[in-house]
Amino acid sequence: MEVIIQPSQDAANVVAARIIEDLVRRKPAAVLGLATGGTPVGLYKELIRLHRENGLDFSRVTTFNLDEYVGISPEHPASYHRFMRENLFDHVNIPAANINIPDGNAPDIPRFCAYYEEQIRRAGGIDLQVLGIGHDGHIGFNESTSSLASRTRIKTLTTETIEANQRFFAPGEPVPYHVVTMGVGTIMESHTCLMLAFGAGKAHAVEAMVEGPIMAMCPASVLQMHRQTIVVMDEPAASRLKKAAYYRHIYENKPDYQKLCPFPLV
Ligand code: PGA
Repeated sequence: MEVIIQPSQDAANVVAARIIEDLVRRKPAAVLGLATGGTPVGLYKELIRLHRENGLDFSRVTTFNLDEYVGISPEHPASYHRFMRENLFDHVNIPAANINIPDGNAPDIPRFCAYYEEQIRRAGGIDLQVLGIGHDGHIGFNESTSSLASRTRIKTLTTETIEANQRFFAPGEPVPYHVVTMGVGTIMESHTCLMLAFGAGKAHAVEAMVEGPIMAMCPASVLQMHRQTIVVMDEPAASRLKKAAYYRHIYENKPDYQKLCPFPLV
């Protein structure tokens, strides 16, 4: 796992966006796994800027989102379909036919989940998966105690996640407790995982993920077993890391050929 600590969220978003830019310029038909929530908003803003000002072309890119609520309309202000349109898709040139987001209204959810996995396989797998991390160490909507080998499926949210996400719903409006999410095993098959983590509120989860034991109580910790995971964070999110000085030393002294990414992405 490569840990990159940056002085601010903005600086971290620039680093993360450059990794994606590098991938898309080298592999224009890249398959990107995308995330929602508060964390990736700044990254998407930077990608939009690169598209507008530097001609970053997404016309051959395919995307798969991690998750979606069950039972709310794609037009609902808190739906991840709408989030993705507003925060990225309406502002870059990814063809609509190349965009995949779990359908939380599918009449047969298990069948839809199998279909989603098949679509990822047909696309050739995910080249780079963007991830946030929950306060409890969840990735996607894979809550604590999720199977570390799980596939795309329906999950029930914890009270903590429901409370954390209430801010995206109208006051008093119930947050759905069922979601469809890529599994931990699905995420682990991505060629590269690019995680962002911001703020002191994520410091415990980041510590458990990077330096704790691998355990289902912190699903993100299984990324220690992933061959190429890059975690870009701000100082407050890094504040509990015991080896922070070492991670900084590694990043500052990378050989030129490793500057963006330690392994070839394509
Ligand atoms: P956040 O959520 O980006 O809104 O903090 C992260 C997550 O729950 O994965």
